[in-house]
This record gives sequence, structure tokens and C-alpha cells, in this order.
Amino acid sequence: MFYDALENQHGLKHDPWKSLAVPRPIGWISTVSSDGVANLAPYSFFNAIADRPHYVCFGSGGMKDTLRNIEQTKEFVCNIANYELRDHMNMSSAAVPYGVDEFPLSGLTAAKSNLVKPPRVKEAPASFECRHFQTIALPGAGKYKSSYHLVIGLVVGIHIDDRYIKDGLIDTATMKPIARLGYMDYAVVTPETMFEITRPDVGPDGQIISTKPEKWDGQYR
Ligand SMILES: Cc1cc2nc3c(=O)[nH]c(=O)nc-3n(C[C@H](O)[C@H](O)[C@H](O)COP(=O)(O)O)c2cc1C
Repeated sequence: MFYDALENQHGLKHDPWKSLAVPRPIGWISTVSSDGVANLAPYSFFNAIADRPHYVCFGSGGMKDTLRNIEQTKEFVCNIANYELRDHMNMSSAAVPYGVDEFPLSGLTAAKSNLVKPPRVKEAPASFECRHFQTIALPGAGKYKSSYHLVIGLVVGIHIDDRYIKDGLIDTATMKPIARLGYMDYAVVTPETMFEITRPDVGPDGQIISTKPEKWDGQYR
């Protein structure tokens, strides 16, 4: 099937979009208002977009508390959610009024960050302290008026729970990060769902010279 995305007449039971761009990592964003009230909410229109230096971004549908706080204080923390924390993550998405701190509401501990004012989720396997870089108002198109903002942050500090570091590498299989699918579905990374592929090497004349794992130089790219 094919349909015009601007008209979005897909003819299916439910808009398939969020079930197609999958799995989406969850940026579990903590912020603080200028008068010091913390806020926490999950965002799955989220990703890491650069690593030298490190940048992350997320999309907010409308003016949510997270966006409001970032406009005030220019900082946020992006926490990583894993299977162990799935219900806490979900609870923190409750549409409570502005000024309600979702940390106690979702049974989580707000730990002090090192370089930014917003607290991080102490229980999270990893947290990225971010300085706000830019917010882009995404223009509307077709039948849709503009409502989404893309928030980009520069990562200035990274916390990793030492439990998930093994032999100098992140033990993703133990960390079990979760990701959002469509509908009410989620995915979790487990040893069974992980696999390895080594990247092809290209020779001086542009020819592929090796894709065999046994010839891999052990370097991660
Ligand atoms: C797993 C998950 C992912 C979500 N992703 C987004 C998202 O990408 N963008 C968005 O605007 N809302 C998203 N939401 C909804 C927000 O978390 C929800 O509107 C929340 O109340 C916003 O909180 P805030 O007003 O404190 O920022 C998501 C909810 C869940 C449970």
C-alpha cells in the first residue's frame, strides 16, 4: 500500500506511523523550573544524533512542561529507561498539572546532577546531562498545523551505573534498555534479540576486502 502522508488517509484502524519508525529509544527527560520544581517525562521521538561532541534531540508535541522548563533554565537530563524501570517510566508520563514533580509520583529518586541544575534519575542505568542548544519549531504541512518542537541538547556529562560496565564495555544485555513501538507496545533488548555484524572494510581501490568476522581487527567503529 501507499498513502499521501500529508493527507494521512491510510485507511487502517490506527495511524501506522509510530509502528513503522521502530524501535524508538526513550529519552526520559528530567528538567527543573526556574522556581526549582523538578519534572520528569518520557519522549520516544528521541535519539542520539552525534558523538563528537555528543548531541541528543527529542520532539515535543505541543508546549509540554518539559519544554517550558527547558526554555526557562536551558538545561535538561536525558535518562535511559530499562526493563526494570518500565512501570516507573510509564507512570512519569501522567499528564499532571504544571508544577507537579513526577519523581515522587513515579517512585523514583532525584539525584543531584554534576554539571546541570535538573536532577537525574538515580535508578537509571545511564543519564546524560545536557545543555540546551536549539529548539526548532517544525512547520505544519498538509492537513496538520504546526505543533511539534525539536529540542536539541549538547551532552556535557554522562553517568553510567557501574553495574552495566563489564570488561570496559557496556553490558547492554544486562542493562535491558527498552524502546517504544506503536500502539501500546514496547521492545526490550535481551541477549536473544542481540546480534553482531562487523563492518565491511574497503581496500585502496574501493573494493570490499573483508566482511568475515574472523578477520575483524577488534576495533569498534
Ligand atoms: C513511552 C512514551 C513515549 C512518549 N513520547 C513522547 C514524545 O516523543 N513526544 C511527546 O510530546 N510526548 C511523548 N509522550 C507523552 C509524554 O510523556 C506526556 O505527554 C507527558 O505528560 C509530558 O510530560 P511533561 O508535560 O511533564 O513534559 C510519551 C509517553 C510515553 C509513555
